[in-house]
Amino acid sequence: MSSQKIALVTGANKGIGLETSRQLAEKGVKVYMGSRDKTRGENAFSELRSKGLDVELVILDMTKREHFVAAKEQLETRHGRLDILVNNAALQIEDPTWSQNTTTTISPDVLRETFEVNFFGLVELTNMLLPLIAKSDSGRIINLTSILGSLALHDNPSSPIYSTKTFAYNASKAALNMYTIHLAYTLKDTPIRVNSAHPGWVKTDMGTDAAPMSVEDGAKTTIELALANGNAPHGRYIHLGKELPW
Ligand SMILES: NC(=O)c1ccc[n+]([C@@H]2O[C@H](COP(=O)([O-])OP(=O)(O)OC[C@H]3O[C@@H](n4cnc5c(N)ncnc54)[C@H](OP(=O)(O)O)[C@@H]3O)[C@@H](O)[C@H]2O)c1
Repeated sequence: MSSQKIALVTGANKGIGLETSRQLAEKGVKVYMGSRDKTRGENAFSELRSKGLDVELVILDMTKREHFVAAKEQLETRHGRLDILVNNAALQIEDPTWSQNTTTTISPDVLRETFEVNFFGLVELTNMLLPLIAKSDSGRIINLTSILGSLALHDNPSSPIYSTKTFAYNASKAALNMYTIHLAYTLKDTPIRVNSAHPGWVKTDMGTDAAPMSVEDGAKTTIELALANGNAPHGRYIHLGKELPW
């Protein structure tokens, strides 16, 4: 088995996904950069390739099963395994300002579209790739959730996110946290480690310019979990090395 680690990062054409791809590749990992859009993907891929980084572009729309199958076949044929899966792609389409409580106003279509990308597609892709991750000596799965997926903090009036009730997004990330816990239980007797990562409030299209953190810092939690050796966390909900309450 080649010692170079192989990673797949979804939603890698911009934001935290692009930065995560860059940082993983800078550490010697071969990174397959998922992008649903060919042109946006090619631009991001060229940016990293022009710096001499070992990256590949894979067209991956999180709503398209045929893309999951093609990505799996590509990885299987070329490498026979996958070491790191970063489930980063997500959307928040209910409120660009994050200031409205959408609990009673959310449209069924927005609720479904949010879950389609942030939850259903992610679970289907991950379960499909698990046999390849099982071929790795130290498989790592990082689910980019959010502090906004914390039930405990949403129920706590003194928490900083108490009033941020963007319902579809928050519910999709809470569901993803449950997947992390269930998958961790399923994989507890294997070398695969799976965790939920909260990147922080990060300056991206989703995080907006109001966010305090850079993408460089926003990628740190994922990078630590992706490259953790030995006593790596499993089934935890982590931000910069510290645990968040579920
Ligand atoms: N930024 C923050 O403050 C923050 C805080 C907590 C958690 N997070 C989480 O961190 C992750 C990255 O967020 P970000 O801030 O980097 O967001 P972003 O800049 O909006 O990037 C999101 C990425 O997901 C992709 N995506 C959306 N729908 C997709 C689909 N159907 N198929 C494939 N890709 C799709 C986007 O592709 P397109 O360019 O084609 O739209 C883009 O590459 C997300 O899981 C997010 O929920 C972010």
